[in-house]
Amino acid sequence: MRKNAIIFISLAVLSFGLLGCPPKEGGGAGTGASGGADILVGEYGSMTGPQATFGQSTHNGIMMAADEVNAAGGINGRKIKVLSEDDQSKQEEAANAVTKLISQNNVVAILGEVASSASIAAAPICQSAKVPMITPSSTNDEVTRKGNFIFRICFTDSYQGEYQAVFADGWCTANNKPKNVAMLTDVKSDYSQGLAKVFSAKFGTLGGKIAGTQSYANGDSDFHSQLTAIKGTNPSIIYVPGYYTDIGQIAIQARDLGITAPLLGGDGWESPRLIEIGGKSLEGCFYTNHYFYADPSPVVSSFVQKYKERYKQTPDALAALGYDAMKTLADAMKRAAKLDGPSIRDAIGQTKGLVGVTGTINIDANRNATGKKLVIEEIKNGQLTLKATIDPATGGKVVMNDGAAPSTTPSTATSTTTH
Ligand code: PHE
Repeated sequence: MRKNAIIFISLAVLSFGLLGCPPKEGGGAGTGASGGADILVGEYGSMTGPQATFGQSTHNGIMMAADEVNAAGGINGRKIKVLSEDDQSKQEEAANAVTKLISQNNVVAILGEVASSASIAAAPICQSAKVPMITPSSTNDEVTRKGNFIFRICFTDSYQGEYQAVFADGWCTANNKPKNVAMLTDVKSDYSQGLAKVFSAKFGTLGGKIAGTQSYANGDSDFHSQLTAIKGTNPSIIYVPGYYTDIGQIAIQARDLGITAPLLGGDGWESPRLIEIGGKSLEGCFYTNHYFYADPSPVVSSFVQKYKERYKQTPDALAALGYDAMKTLADAMKRAAKLDGPSIRDAIGQTKGLVGVTGTINIDANRNATGKKLVIEEIKNGQLTLKATIDPATGGKVVMNDGAAPSTTPSTATSTTTH
């Protein structure tokens, strides 16, 4: 209800803005680089608020990629200029940010958001203005169903969630534990709800049982009552598909209550703040992710080195995805017949075999990236370590990093969904 109202108001503001100021081909006024005016690209993200590191890391990755493209001649001689808007980790602000980028700044394309609920709030605005949007990292299946101008370069939750279930199943077997998992989900997040659905369905088909589901709303600070109920079901694993700020608190409170079961989560745990907040309580916990920073492959190690030199920190997955999203957009703009929304949209849709830090980018007919790699990380001695890798190019098996026997491939998992 609230979401619909936000979309309605934003669309109204947007049509008003467009009437007053029709978009020009190739974006609004730039600074006049040698090959023509700068090409304006919009970015919206959570630079502040409870998911601040999502937006900050993504921004760093985007800027590094844009600078590289510009240094190498830009888009057929024209430079990219990124205009960034902070949505403060709020869905309604995400819609406002996108409206502003389109109607006031005349951007030709938009990168963002990280959180799926924010992408879902803003995507209809991009769609109705025919401005292509690429989300670097929103995994909820619904995001790219918002229209034919909406793309993603990360895997989906139907992919991520199934592999989490396969991993949980394998972990219970390897540790002689009953296949009994409790879930704690965020009612305010499309991401959390979507993942819980996929995970529980897949875990069920593998013979596992969901002992019970408790919920919270992001921003809550007291999780004791939910965790007490969970403790009563004596789960082998607690599945928590949430975001890092909440996860850190949940882990601390779970250990306070004497719960020793590992927590298992998704990419939403990824943040330099995760271990800072959760500390020792996160030891032995696992989450799925888009890349592992210490992957020795040349493409990852050269990205990590360049990023460290520039920002004096280790890039997380958001930085890598932001970088890949900008590179995907730049590649499409170079190939586009014209720099207008429909032409850029067509070119993004034709992306094939683009080598990215998070894997090779191939966009399918549903505007999702197919065949992306997935890693499972474990928090060990206060560090992120690689537990397992799944690479669709080599059969999609869960390959354990310690050489243990690989688990079976999920029967229905693909990196995209077609339903
Ligand atoms: N996949 C999350 C979502 O859709 C966002 C996210 C991606 C967070 C990658 C961290 C790392 O909401």
